[in-house]
Amino acid sequence: MPLTVTPSGQACGAKVTGVDLSQPLDDQQIGEIRAAWLQHHVLSFPDQDISDDDLERFTLYFGGFGHDPFFDPIEGREHIAAIQRNADETSPLFAENWHSDWSFQEHPPAGTCLRSITIPPVGGDTLFANQHAALDLMPSEMRAELEGKGAIHSAQLAYAPDGAYGEKDEGRSMAIRPDESARKTQVHPLIREHPETGRRGLFSCMGYIIGFEGMTQQEALPLLTELYAWQSRDEFVYRHKWEPNMLVMWDNRSVLHCATGGYEGHDRLLHRTTIGAYMS
Ligand code: SIN
Repeated sequence: MPLTVTPSGQACGAKVTGVDLSQPLDDQQIGEIRAAWLQHHVLSFPDQDISDDDLERFTLYFGGFGHDPFFDPIEGREHIAAIQRNADETSPLFAENWHSDWSFQEHPPAGTCLRSITIPPVGGDTLFANQHAALDLMPSEMRAELEGKGAIHSAQLAYAPDGAYGEKDEGRSMAIRPDESARKTQVHPLIREHPETGRRGLFSCMGYIIGFEGMTQQEALPLLTELYAWQSRDEFVYRHKWEPNMLVMWDNRSVLHCATGGYEGHDRLLHRTTIGAYMS
């Protein structure tokens, strides 16, 4: 079956058909998918009636599993987390701000795979922002301010006990487990080369980035805020609309992503794995 890759026509993203992910893939198929992933940064595979075994096998074609802190995995699996929201849930939406998954780690995951199970009839799109385009089109003054900066990453605002998903977060169906380790920090260059393509881009954003090396918080905050607004401009965004039985994989080194709401009164459930860092 020939693989067909259809670009979204937006800032990134493509749909892939002509492959059955419930079956093992051969080297040629894996190579073609990897090439399309590196080119388009977000791939969606519609009409894939797959199991968690299939999700795990697919993930491992592209690297080892990433390390997923602050979530309990689903029962019987070490590397699958449920992205879940029940119809009657009123806690703030999970992941409704731009981020690159686990960018506060020493070796953040190269990618993330999300398999849709229950998809609401309206809302619940996932947005992706192309961070190569965001850098390419950045005004030169802003770029000059940011070039060479070491960004300080931490999970503290989200996953520390006093963070957004911490002890005060109640009534959430997702198995989020905040802890003190969220306060650790890790520095990554803000502007860096993609480890596989060499293409330069912005890595992560305010939220997981809490400051810049050599700057006070007072100095860093306005810069981070201005940067966040730039990184997520409409012109860099692909809006992904989910269907049941869809697998999406994205490249955390090239895009930011964020969840959206608009499906109050409906359940939403997806199973997620992360693809470990690429080691050349
Ligand atoms: C995520 O950030 O992993 C979840 C995105 C979504 O729920 O759309």
